Amino acid sequence: MVVELFDAGPVGALRIAPSILAADFGALASAIRVVDSQTDWVHVDVMDGHFVPNISIGPPVVQSLRPYSDRFFDCHLMISEPARYLQAFKKAGADSCTIHVEVGNTSSVIADARALGLRVGLAANPDTPFDAVAPYLGDIDLLLLMTVFPGFGGQSFMAEVMDKVSLARKEIDAAALALDLEVDGGIDRITAPVATRAGANVLVAGSAIFNQESPLDAALAIREAAFTGQR
Ligand code: DX5
Ligand code: ZN
Repeated sequence: MVVELFDAGPVGALRIAPSILAADFGALASAIRVVDSQTDWVHVDVMDGHFVPNISIGPPVVQSLRPYSDRFFDCHLMISEPARYLQAFKKAGADSCTIHVEVGNTSSVIADARALGLRVGLAANPDTPFDAVAPYLGDIDLLLLMTVFPGFGGQSFMAEVMDKVSLARKEIDAAALALDLEVDGGIDRITAPVATRAGANVLVAGSAIFNQESPLDAALAIREAAFTGQR
């Protein structure tokens, strides 16, 4: 039996996922502790310098952070060869791995992740059409629709992605799929309600939390703003 140690919470509920990419890499454990009471998941951005033009962190950092948090670790793999590293992420303490549909070989990577007992997310870049992810909706736990091109924190929210978010929400509800709908990039207290109004229920925020004077207050402000957009 696979025991899920760190709970994702009820599917479809509003969740705030702070992206540690924007935190001080020298003090990650305290960064996630500071925001713990107003956040739900921990979003871990993994970049390989190949799928995206930036390098960030990998399984050793997940492993080091694991003892400091009982939050659900939502690992966003912006890497060209996710299949090679899924086991290392699982061993390190990842709860979920999200792979990008642009990488290809999607069914096989999803199956590999499942076999390891990971929850599985599928991500799409802003210019990737909904049709590219639609065939997999029944096989995943999370759909991540990027609201910036992946690679860097601190970019501006792309409101034009909201049509795709609305379409995804419609499909998820129509088919009664047990699927969380996440947005990532440029989320702050202004854009959070725009995203929840379109149907997103998991909001990733990096700069708007960690680059603020009080990350805890900033997380709370995003949560409150997000609620106002929920239908
Ligand atoms: C972008 C990453 C995001 C990023 C979000 O490639 O996937 O998770 O950290 O950062 P902000 O919230 O600053 O746009
Ligand atoms: Zn991310």
